[in-house]
Amino acid sequence: MVTRKSNREIELMRVAGKIVAMAHKAVKDNIKPGMTTKDIDDLVEKVIRENDAIPSFKNYNGYPASACVSINEEVVHGIPSPHRVLQNGDIVSVDIGAMYKGYHGDSAWTYACGEISEEAKRLLEGTKASLFAGLEFAKANNRLSDISHHIQKTAEGLGFSVVREFVGHGVGSKLHEDPQIPNYGLPNRGVKLKSGMTLAIEPMINLGNKEVKVLSDGWTTITRDKSLSAHFEHTILIKNDGYEILTKL
Ligand code: MF3
Ligand code: CO
Repeated sequence: MVTRKSNREIELMRVAGKIVAMAHKAVKDNIKPGMTTKDIDDLVEKVIRENDAIPSFKNYNGYPASACVSINEEVVHGIPSPHRVLQNGDIVSVDIGAMYKGYHGDSAWTYACGEISEEAKRLLEGTKASLFAGLEFAKANNRLSDISHHIQKTAEGLGFSVVREFVGHGVGSKLHEDPQIPNYGLPNRGVKLKSGMTLAIEPMINLGNKEVKVLSDGWTTITRDKSLSAHFEHTILIKNDGYEILTKL
């Protein structure tokens, strides 16, 4: 069942989303070669807790940290480690969730660490463009797969591939709610969008092939061909005339 949030719930989700955005701003302003992925996690957790929120991911299905930090060929769910040092030229996907008064915000961004290659820049820009191309269709009375379809069309049009194993999702009092939102598919399928629905849209896009595998830690997911991967995610509110990004400052 896809829920529609009340004004009170939406107000709390705006606060949760803003806290997630503040944590991202701290990462953006501080990320540099020599930092560890644990340093990123500490920074994220500090911002979340200083703002009276709780990291949504910590202990979720046993996940051990506040952020997911995934480098280069890592697609999602990289577990922060004090032994993993960021290098100049890395692309670093940071996924952050915060719960405020029982409501979650969820957003991911892929950052450049130092100077990155031209193809890495193209992947980051293309993945962001795919997210926003999908969001063009995030509006009451459209159907869910209109978003999915335009993400895929944009990413594949740029020569990239779309990861199939992970999807976007409804979000609210639970981190993962109905519906599941694939980043691919035919248009005009799935639930009809209604004002008050809150969704996390999150394309994971590979420079090479779409296939991924999960490493033996049970979390870290990498591209099978070891090509670079990027991830951009926002939590949004569906409105009659479009959408509002909740995970913004
Ligand atoms: N944005 C991701 C998701 O929606 C992050 C979840 S990480 C987990 O699935 F640790 F919480 F699983
Ligand atoms: Co998510």
